[in-house]
Amino acid sequence: MSMDMNFVESQFPALRQREFTYLDNAGGSLVLKGVAARVSDYLLTSSVQHGATYSKSAEARDKLRQAQESVARLINAKRPEEVVMGSSTTWLLRVLADAIGETLKPGDEIICSQSEHESNYGAWEKLTRRGVKVIPWPFDLVSFRLSTKTLQSLMTPKTKLVCCTHASNIFGTINPIREIADMVHANGAKLCVDSVAYAPHRLVDVQASDADFYVFSFYKVYGPHHAVMFGKYDELLKLPNQNHFFIAEDRIPYKLQPGNVNYELAYGCIGIEDYLLELGAKDGTTPRQKMAAAFDQITQQEELLSASLLNYLAAKNNVRIIGETSHAARLRVPTISFVVEGVDSESIVSQMDKFNIGIRYGDFYARRLVQALGLEKNNGVVRVSMVHYNTIAEVEKLISKLDAIL
Ligand SMILES: Cc1ncc(COP(=O)(O)O)c(C=O)c1O
Repeated sequence: MSMDMNFVESQFPALRQREFTYLDNAGGSLVLKGVAARVSDYLLTSSVQHGATYSKSAEARDKLRQAQESVARLINAKRPEEVVMGSSTTWLLRVLADAIGETLKPGDEIICSQSEHESNYGAWEKLTRRGVKVIPWPFDLVSFRLSTKTLQSLMTPKTKLVCCTHASNIFGTINPIREIADMVHANGAKLCVDSVAYAPHRLVDVQASDADFYVFSFYKVYGPHHAVMFGKYDELLKLPNQNHFFIAEDRIPYKLQPGNVNYELAYGCIGIEDYLLELGAKDGTTPRQKMAAAFDQITQQEELLSASLLNYLAAKNNVRIIGETSHAARLRVPTISFVVEGVDSESIVSQMDKFNIGIRYGDFYARRLVQALGLEKNNGVVRVSMVHYNTIAEVEKLISKLDAIL
């Protein structure tokens, strides 16, 4: 079933401003009107404190519960308590690292992939202050992939945790999370996955991926600046309380949500599920089938966009694609990075700005990745990041301008 672009456009009011071509979606996607409507609804009708005896408080609490349930369905968690919310992926990973850090001893090891956004590396590196060792898991400098063989060679009986992305925010490469999870578990360790660059493009399934912790931010998935950390129930139960001292250890997820979560943004996130259910309505009966159908359409559209841009880039002698060169949807998401030989990445992007096309250059906070490739001299990479609401016409416009610049 192909995607109904009229329906898609009707859901993203910002798309009506088509004179601006937005191709920086991995920085942050456009927001669904249903999300904004729910945020507004919460603020204007339910903005009271939770936990009181009056009925309005119970109503507001119920809306937060609805949000937790919606996110649990979106990610296929077994129970809503497995949904920990927070302001950002970086924040949630800091809370998780603090909690796990309390359970580790000097000499324990954590393996972090070198293709991480800093949020899933730096949080763990802080634990070296407690004597924990953080071991980098290098990616292959030619294929840009993470190899499970390399991971196996790094694992020791002291390995407690492995951290990696589901998809790289620079390479676009999708990592084989289930295979990684099986290997990590066979070695007696746990897996923490950053899914920020993956979740906008594929239907998340935390049960299928079998990661112990799995984190992403909704502002990249058509929603607000709010984030979720899934944790397996038993793993969350084991973690020490990060909230006030009188919050019980079995108060999940509350013990990992110090301070109030943002109620209105949490409630807004239900708009993401609403959208996917409507997009996939014709091809499924159960909510999960409908969401899977929606993501099938999304994947199909994104593969066309990737193919169009990658074919162009691959044909240019002076361009080097930094990431997966195949457009196959099983291998990559449509986040495409490249460098031009002898050219500063900034100069390409600043010329593109004049055409009202939004792309970006830099290291995208994956600084260790850019350093490993020696690309600081280029001022990082040029990144074009697309999602399903982008069109082939937009990619063709980008290509024609790029051709003029190159
Ligand atoms: C892959 C990846 N992980 C983590 C983050 C950090 O997300 P947040 O801004 O919600 O902390 C980003 C942000 O760009 C990202 O691209």
